[in-house]
Amino acid sequence: MNLPHKHSATGTTIFTVMSTLAAQHNAINLSQGFPDFPIDDRLGTLLHIATTVGFNQYAPMMGLPLLRETIAENFKRRYNLDINHDTEITVTPGATYAIYAAFTAILQPGDEVIILEPAYDSYIPNIEMNGAKAVPVSLSTPDFSVDWNKVKDAVTAKTKAIIVNTPHNPTGAIWAKEDWDKLADIVRDTEIFILSDEVYEQLVYDGQKHYSVLEHAELRERSFALYSFGKVFHNTGWKIGYCIAPPQLTDAFRHIHQFLAFSVNTPAQYALAQYLKLEDVPPVNIMLQEKRDNFLDLIKQTPFTIHKPTSGSYFQLASYEHISDMPDMEFAQWLTKEHGVATIPMSAFYSNKQDNKLLRFCFAKKEETLQSAIERLSKLEAVAASLK
Ligand SMILES: Cc1ncc(COP(=O)(O)O)c(C=O)c1O
Repeated sequence: MNLPHKHSATGTTIFTVMSTLAAQHNAINLSQGFPDFPIDDRLGTLLHIATTVGFNQYAPMMGLPLLRETIAENFKRRYNLDINHDTEITVTPGATYAIYAAFTAILQPGDEVIILEPAYDSYIPNIEMNGAKAVPVSLSTPDFSVDWNKVKDAVTAKTKAIIVNTPHNPTGAIWAKEDWDKLADIVRDTEIFILSDEVYEQLVYDGQKHYSVLEHAELRERSFALYSFGKVFHNTGWKIGYCIAPPQLTDAFRHIHQFLAFSVNTPAQYALAQYLKLEDVPPVNIMLQEKRDNFLDLIKQTPFTIHKPTSGSYFQLASYEHISDMPDMEFAQWLTKEHGVATIPMSAFYSNKQDNKLLRFCFAKKEETLQSAIERLSKLEAVAASLK
């Protein structure tokens, strides 16, 4: 049978490929971005309570009022922002879904969307599934900053949206306030929408600050800001996120959402709302900064090199240029099969498969997981010379 190709990506995502390979070879999985430590018991208990007190039927299409109210309070407390929970917040089954729904709300065939590469791998398929075209602009190496002249040059009469991501997967770079001003200069006097993927907003280190698009009054008017609870409460498998956008954009978003998922897992929404109200949940960045620092310390025992400690997200890039000349995809597979540590090759985040000889390591793991991975990687010292 002749099945249509809805997007240009082939095969399964790199995360599935590497996680499957890790399982086959009994490798330590530092590839996919998920924690291997447990959630707070209290969150699990709240989920159980939700099911026993009757939160088992469809939630309202836009999300449980209690959760939307709590999200609004949370943004008031953390960012001093006023967000209307009825007209500006929609709860979604994860951020990936929210990105797709936002694109579907605004895109028509033939439109163009600028993406900054390397980029999370769902963006391009999501754009193409809507009949639009992704226009990649490469971030500048080695610090992965945005070259605003390149972004400006990529804008055409067909540009409908720009998708941005800070803190950034896979590089861990975060945007300065000025980056938002530069973006505003480019889109002013146009009808370009912004999708701001801020799933790692709370994973920012060394006392740095995450600047949200919602804090930029001018850009907020044209933006969908996308979030994920999975990254904050270590429960990526719950797949609950939300979209914050001004009322007109939220209407357009819900117009799609009501016929895609309609609503989101009710007991999980209840549990998250109650958990968000607790005042003694330690900020996630403290624990993850310790893990990052520990990882940076441990990796010194291996021939991998670090250009810059990650500023945000739970990923650290490391170079294998002193170990091998292999292409990164080949090297990552070899490392998984022969040395039992799975990572993500950086070229997977570029549409042109640009190879910077970098691997992405997820450090949101238990101490013993990181220790064992480093023990295996430190043996590479001996093989490095023979591979070169
Ligand atoms: C940049 C980015 N956006 C979105 C997501 C997905 O979030 P969710 O699991 O809520 O769909 C991820 C997950 O890895 C991500 O790295």
